[in-house]
Amino acid sequence: MSDWITVAKVGELAPGQWRVVDADGAQIVVINYKGDYFAIEDVCSHDGGQLSNGDLDGDEFICPRHGAAFCIRTGKAMTPPAYDPTAIFPVRVEGGEIQVRDDRWD
Ligand code: FES
Repeated sequence: MSDWITVAKVGELAPGQWRVVDADGAQIVVINYKGDYFAIEDVCSHDGGQLSNGDLDGDEFICPRHGAAFCIRTGKAMTPPAYDPTAIFPVRVEGGEIQVRDDRWD
């Protein structure tokens, strides 16, 4: 089971902002969307684009390479050319810190 990784202190990540952290080799984008936190892998399932270089459009992250959109709540690919989801991760607030964990290998 991997450890929780601290992303930022609450208040350092404003609504509409995101930050990338390395969690045991996985690049994870942690997003503040309207005060709630979501985390998706920083990899587009179409051709490996770095989602964090793209943009947030509502609750979807848009890949900067060919425009695929991913739901930040579910990881689901919402528009072609991506069809497979990207991974999502649990986020918690603990002791005033936003934390994320890669739970895929639990
Ligand atoms: S690499 Fe993301 S849409 Fe092509």
